[in-house]
Amino acid sequence: MSAALLSSISLVPPPVPNGEPESMQMPIIDFSKLQQTDGSRLAVIRDVETACREIGCFQVINHGISKSVMEGALSAAYDFFELPAESKAEFMSPDITKPVRYDCSNEGINKSRSYLKHYAHPLEEWIKFWPREPPTYRIKMGQYAIEVRRVALCLMHAILQSLGLGQAYLGTKLEEGVQLLAVNYYPQSTQPGVALGLAPHSDYGFITILLPSCPGLEVMDPKTKVWMSVLQPEDTLHVHIGDHLEALSNGKYRTVVHRAVLNSENSRVSIASIHGLAMNEKVRSAEELVDEQNPAMYKESSFRDFLDFLPSKEIKNKSYIDSLR
Ligand code: SIN
Ligand code: FE2
Repeated sequence: MSAALLSSISLVPPPVPNGEPESMQMPIIDFSKLQQTDGSRLAVIRDVETACREIGCFQVINHGISKSVMEGALSAAYDFFELPAESKAEFMSPDITKPVRYDCSNEGINKSRSYLKHYAHPLEEWIKFWPREPPTYRIKMGQYAIEVRRVALCLMHAILQSLGLGQAYLGTKLEEGVQLLAVNYYPQSTQPGVALGLAPHSDYGFITILLPSCPGLEVMDPKTKVWMSVLQPEDTLHVHIGDHLEALSNGKYRTVVHRAVLNSENSRVSIASIHGLAMNEKVRSAEELVDEQNPAMYKESSFRDFLDFLPSKEIKNKSYIDSLR
């Protein structure tokens, strides 16, 4: 199978990658241990805290999503992008509030990426807008959406616990939150090392869970500011901390800047499942993490505020998180 990348917000024109970046092994979180009530969960919560504080991303093993569900979603994604242009054209729109949106404009700073974005929770509300072609798209992507959301909720509760806020801190707000699937396609690179698939950016929400079909993701090391290519072992899920978690944590955890490069051997697909609070729910620095030494550093904002910000981001020449800091 071929594959691709996904994403949300591009901030600056893509630099030309030069040379092979060093590869980086991500912190690994054993999801099965988060289900336990003994010291194993607490040990993993400490791992989550270290990963979020030091690098802003980690990978998850033993998450319980079957190989067939993950491969089914990736193949449905790939089959969608293989459709004739006229079958995909009905989803093209400049309106970023549409429930489903396809973009293959091949222009500007994202010039090597096509993508399909659609909301996924509550599934029964959104699935009727999803593509009918390929015929298995709704069922395969729908199965993955449900499974990955289960993993996301559990991870977000673990992250709240790792911040010392308690896993129930946000009450039902996480369950009522947005899930947006960004399904990306990147062509095989004809000029290895020259083209970027997706410009550097951070993701907007609390967390993004990324499932790629092959390598291509790069993360900026927050200490050295050097690009590192991400090694993702088979069957793992890659998790990014997003802008709103940085704001909630009052800067204790930092959103992670990442980009995608084109793969020289394959086209690439990736599915990013983006999770945050409900569209109009404001996120602000948790009071428990604010004191005289650590004053609140972020403006409150919602997913809706983020969508309102997007059209002006190039004029403002700043990222969304910079607009909140
Ligand atoms: C994204 O940043 O959302 C996608 C990255 C990727 O496709 O690897
Ligand atoms: Fe991203």
